[in-house]
Amino acid sequence: EFKPLVFSGVQPTGNLHLGNYLGAIRKFVALQANNDCIYCVVDMHALTAQLVHEDMPNQTRSITAAFLAAGIDPEKHIVFNQSAVPAHAELAWIFNCVARIGWMNRMTQFKDKAGKDREQASLGLYAYPSLMAADILLYRATHVPVGDDQKQHLELTRDIAMKFNLDYMEHIRRTGYGIDITVGDEPVHAYFPMVEPLIDGPAPRVMSLRDGTKKMSKSDASDLSRINLLDDEENISKKIRKAKTDPDGLPSEIAGLAGRPEADNLVGIYAALADKSKADVLAEFGGQQFSVFKPALVDLAVHVLSPITTEMRRLMADPGHIDTVLRDGGARARARADVTMKQVRDIIGF
Ligand code: ADP
Ligand code: NA
Repeated sequence: EFKPLVFSGVQPTGNLHLGNYLGAIRKFVALQANNDCIYCVVDMHALTAQLVHEDMPNQTRSITAAFLAAGIDPEKHIVFNQSAVPAHAELAWIFNCVARIGWMNRMTQFKDKAGKDREQASLGLYAYPSLMAADILLYRATHVPVGDDQKQHLELTRDIAMKFNLDYMEHIRRTGYGIDITVGDEPVHAYFPMVEPLIDGPAPRVMSLRDGTKKMSKSDASDLSRINLLDDEENISKKIRKAKTDPDGLPSEIAGLAGRPEADNLVGIYAALADKSKADVLAEFGGQQFSVFKPALVDLAVHVLSPITTEMRRLMADPGHIDTVLRDGGARARARADVTMKQVRDIIGF
């Protein structure tokens, strides 16, 4: 068996929001207790949609500050920015040659992000999932906590790992770097593990507060659509009070949330913040109106988020400290990546 290792990343683009927190960062924190973890600010991914960034260094520091403020320990685990480890790009090139165009053509995030004029999207945006596979497999990570929107990319990561393992099987055997695993019922001599996505929980996809059919996103034009990690109490309260709902109150059972995306979203957010199931939340609030539930949600959100906001601001006031954390994490990540790349080069024959 491969040694369990957790890897995940967040792009340094725009404000972090509640979706990033509940879908990703909060899980990063919880996984530290029983796992070796690597958390990355994926600055190379930030170039895929937009080449020029006004303030990349501070954006990178801000994500790092959020990691630390949420409770990630950069000494026990590794926190770094992707561009500090050039091997991400080297392995991504190899994976570009492993991945098939037909696989990439199925990626829905590319279709969403490229928009109508696909001819004008960058080649990097198209190849993004290949770089993401490299981010993960460069450390031979086994578990990846992400939001539901990343599920398809993780399936592609498994496809890339599988094709590499099968195509290079004889080379992997000859070099002695592989291990025997079972995939489904099939025994496979593998260099790269089959990663497990960690997407569970009551809010795997946090939706916009203005439209329950769209995911909460950094790029939504309406700031009312999302709760940012740096929002103060007044803002959180305003956004939740203005959140779209339907005229009915809260049902007492999950089935009563069907076809009510806004209600379902708010209940899921409450459940995730309270570390409860949606059924627990409905047991408490079923039969109540949103005029009762929303203030309770405001209190809970402020209770959970305000210590993180305060700590993020404190950390951001000392950029030198954040840079030291990233430099140290980068050096440790590079040392691990170098081991993998030496073996991958031997396997390929470079
Ligand atoms: P964004 O999607 O906001 O541009 P990233 O691509 O950097 O941010 O995503 C960082 C992490 O946050 C990923 O694991 C992603 O799945 C998660 N995430 C982003 N938006 C949401 C959401 N609305 N609900 C749940 N998780 C989300
Ligand atoms: Na995303």
